[in-house]
Amino acid sequence: MAIKSKLRELQEKREKILLGGGEQAIEKQKALGKRTARERIMALLDVDSFNEYDLFVEHDARDFDMDKKSLPSDGVIIGTGTIYGAPVAIFAQDFTVAGGSLGLMHSRKITKIMDHALKMRMPLIGINDSGGARIQEGVNSLAGYGEIFFRNTISSGVIPQISVILGPCAGGAVYSPALTDFVFVVDNISKMFITGPEVIKTVLGEEISMEDLGGARVHSEITGNAHFFSSSEEECFDQIKKLITFIPWNNSQKARPFEAGEPLNEFNINKIVPDDPTLPYDVKDVIRAIVDNSDFFEIMENYAKNIVIGFGRMGGKTTGFVANQPLEMAGVLDVDSSDKAARFIRYCDAFNIPLITFVDLPGYMPGVDQEHAGVIRHGAKVLYAYSEATVPKLTVIIRKAYGGGYIAMSSRHLRADFVFAWPAAEIAVMGPEGAANIIFRKEILSSDDPDETRKQKIEEYKQKFANPYVAASRGYVDAVIEPSETRKFLLHSLAISENKSIQLPQKKHGLPPF
Ligand code: HXC
Repeated sequence: MAIKSKLRELQEKREKILLGGGEQAIEKQKALGKRTARERIMALLDVDSFNEYDLFVEHDARDFDMDKKSLPSDGVIIGTGTIYGAPVAIFAQDFTVAGGSLGLMHSRKITKIMDHALKMRMPLIGINDSGGARIQEGVNSLAGYGEIFFRNTISSGVIPQISVILGPCAGGAVYSPALTDFVFVVDNISKMFITGPEVIKTVLGEEISMEDLGGARVHSEITGNAHFFSSSEEECFDQIKKLITFIPWNNSQKARPFEAGEPLNEFNINKIVPDDPTLPYDVKDVIRAIVDNSDFFEIMENYAKNIVIGFGRMGGKTTGFVANQPLEMAGVLDVDSSDKAARFIRYCDAFNIPLITFVDLPGYMPGVDQEHAGVIRHGAKVLYAYSEATVPKLTVIIRKAYGGGYIAMSSRHLRADFVFAWPAAEIAVMGPEGAANIIFRKEILSSDDPDETRKQKIEEYKQKFANPYVAASRGYVDAVIEPSETRKFLLHSLAISENKSIQLPQKKHGLPPF
């Protein structure tokens, strides 16, 4: 009997806590198209795989009448579970409880699960839905955030860290996600800002909506804070699950292999790049013509579209792809695309994911705007990231590889392991027009027919340099290959690079230009 009543007591206690912030708050949450924190965890994890911890944790704040308030589970749910069998540690903030605000005990729950994730070397997923530091708890809330940021940083590059923004995340609630590897946002639901509209109105006298300030589109198209955009929580969770299949559980492992599959026939690699070198094409079609099952999982699809990054599988194994996109600004490297590429290269390097780079770019973006925005510093990140990466690095030069762009995009000189070029590749210091105008300027200007002479000189330059054979004659390019041979060459190169091992000089850490 005693045990039965203890069991009933447990059930009653649980049921009370599971109500979260109460029916009204839950209704408000639902009306906004949002699920509750617990529903989110259940939707994301494998069925019956979730073990919850610290259900009974409560805050012990006293000021501002907090001693009279009960905040179930202190507004955050923590636990462990699996996604397609992969172990994950997870926390989900419960906005129905004090707006998911972060007090001391709330932060201790999060840091507890972060410590587990690091100790057990498994991915960490944080579902963020929070008004930021709990104002009533003062410096204790700030201390809590500091403890989280510290752990995000220490865990960086050891375990994958994924942030899901599913509410109005304000103040400290956005800096933890910013320190993690992948940030997911959902249209109309996700908001991220350091200071909200109220503060902006008070301090600057400007009116702005939460959506325009830091909505999902803002962060996936303008700021680059978000890596994945979706239109519903359901779609967002599907994206997270797919990502989990591509990445390893920690930095001492490789991603789980899948069954290999051939690319689909509809992506014919011989027909993607136009004959006319001035015409654009979609480089994603080249990637799809190369990867298993033509399945390319793009990251940051809507930000700095002039470079494409993402995961695919080659012979069943996860591979990272970086590719200039001729469809957008001719695929130039600029401030934003450099940031996007450099961080992804470092991610792949940290987690043992080989890199394949497709090159077709006229170089770095010229102009006052870019110079003043720091294209030197940001562009240098790409050089740094490729040079430092020790995972297998394979490069395919499709068409243009001019100047700094040639060097930056995983060239032999930054220690690419294999560099292949298609026959239409143009590897030179700059494009024929610009080059001819500079080196033959005097001849062009002093000739009887400058336009004709310019044409001749451009042609002369093209013949001499705008091809892959000069680079191949120096061994900077290992093989000039037909497009249809690309997958074969890449699969072989990846297979023989499986046990690649190189040592960089001992150092505490380098100083990348960030
Ligand atoms: C305590 C908070 C809170 C907070 C929200 N709540 N944010 N309680 N501390 N930071 C409470 C509200 O009082 C309310 O409680 C409930 O949560 C729901 O909030 P609403 O305002 O009713 O919801 P909504 O209209 O959807 O607006 C959400 C919001 C807004 C945009 C997030 O609440 C807001 O602006 N909050 C403050 C955001 C902020 O400035 N945070 C920064 C904190 S400083 P009741 O009881 O009425 O239901 C910070 C510094 C860290 O984080 C810096 C580290 C680098």
